[in-house]
Amino acid sequence: MKIAVLGLGYVGLPLALAIRRKTDYDVVGYDPKAEKVDKILKGICPIEDAQAEKDLREFTIKASANEEIIDGSDIYFVCVPTPVLDDYTPDLRPLTNAIETIGRFLRRGQYVVIESTVNPGVCDELVIPLLEKITGLKVVKDFNVAHCPERINPGDPIWNVYNIPRNIGSSSPEATKFIADFYRKVLDAEINEMPDLKTTEATKIIENTFRDVNIAFVNELAKSFEVLGIDIMAVIKGASNKPFAFLPHYPGCGVGGHCIPVDPYYLIDRASKSGFDHKFLKLAREINNSMPVYTVNHLVDALNKFGKPIKGTRIALLGLSYKANLGDLRESPALKIKNLLEQKEADLICFDPFVPKLSTVATIDKALEGTFAILLATAHEQFKVLTGKKLAEFGVKVVIDGRNFLDKEDILKFGIYYKGIGR
Ligand SMILES: NC(=O)c1ccc[n+]([C@@H]2O[C@H](COP(=O)([O-])OP(=O)(O)OC[C@H]3O[C@@H](n4cnc5c(N)ncnc54)[C@H](O)[C@@H]3O)[C@@H](O)[C@H]2O)c1
Repeated sequence: MKIAVLGLGYVGLPLALAIRRKTDYDVVGYDPKAEKVDKILKGICPIEDAQAEKDLREFTIKASANEEIIDGSDIYFVCVPTPVLDDYTPDLRPLTNAIETIGRFLRRGQYVVIESTVNPGVCDELVIPLLEKITGLKVVKDFNVAHCPERINPGDPIWNVYNIPRNIGSSSPEATKFIADFYRKVLDAEINEMPDLKTTEATKIIENTFRDVNIAFVNELAKSFEVLGIDIMAVIKGASNKPFAFLPHYPGCGVGGHCIPVDPYYLIDRASKSGFDHKFLKLAREINNSMPVYTVNHLVDALNKFGKPIKGTRIALLGLSYKANLGDLRESPALKIKNLLEQKEADLICFDPFVPKLSTVATIDKALEGTFAILLATAHEQFKVLTGKKLAEFGVKVVIDGRNFLDKEDILKFGIYYKGIGR
């Protein structure tokens, strides 16, 4: 068989490599970003994924920025971005483009598998009608469409493309079985056959919405406990020794990434088109979106206690990526915090060991030199060196810990002002 993967990012590249590793099939990748393709062809991994880096050291795949490379494939896997527009409605243009590309090549007996995250209805309402229109072929009779939502967690040392269980639904039970058996050959994980496309689309959306609403819940508790004088981290630790029916989530300066702050909007939008108003999901988004401003307000209040304006005061923003120990900037709340501090004309130093292109200094020590306040926005392991002693040596007076990551008691011991989120 010939297998095509469209979109060679965090989802598509690990998948293409996994198929190449586990089968004798001819695997080709198409991505319009030529520089990404060049890297892959040279064995350089363009994404932060330990497993993909390892795979690319051992072998590579055929890849091109020219769509002709997918011609004659038996299965087309679609792994393109599904972001939101400025008004938070789904941006289905990359997916539509990818389907149009496939439509130019699709022939009888072939399969299209959507791995991108989409709301319930996208396969039935957009993918299938578009393919039928372009090709004149009929779904099930001539070709099949399946959905297998990816759950990859970049930077996760345990869970990778090979061992995360997957759900598969499609346009017919036979196609579901065929595609499920394909994944069984490639992955060492449970492959669950789902009743249909819509149900499968919904599983992925609820997984990420579950995270979003739970994080919003603890962010709201953090705000409430702050006025009640209760340390939320101690509360969560206490609640977590209940052996059933409690799952800890942690408050922070905002939710970032390609999935959690985006996917709920897909469901909100689609349900609203069918007349249902997702009040709870919208509120969760609103709470999580409020956290960067909330965190900066803590900094303003802290400086106020020292009689300092934010304008002109040396502040070090530590961490720019949305996730600890990775350099991924997509939807990062740290970037929102950076904008807010720039608008307020702080004397801003930025440092993220994983994002040198946006760092204004090259080391933590340089970031601390002459700095009055630090705002920690990402829990990178490297920031563990920020002890009370070190901060005091550099004369830092204020610590705003946007990830509740530093040792509060140790910092307070040195007479430094400390404020976390909910503690
Ligand atoms: N990153 C994650 O952790 C993650 C996890 C699970 C699901 N997802 C979902 O998977 C999908 C892809 O996410 P990602 O993180 O891999 O994105 P990404 O931005 O890392 O990669 C997507 C790639 O698709 C390419 N592309 C854009 N338009 C294209 C087209 N028309 N044809 C071919 N390639 C095209 C882009 O150039 C890019 O290289 C999204 O729907 C996302 O929500 C992501």
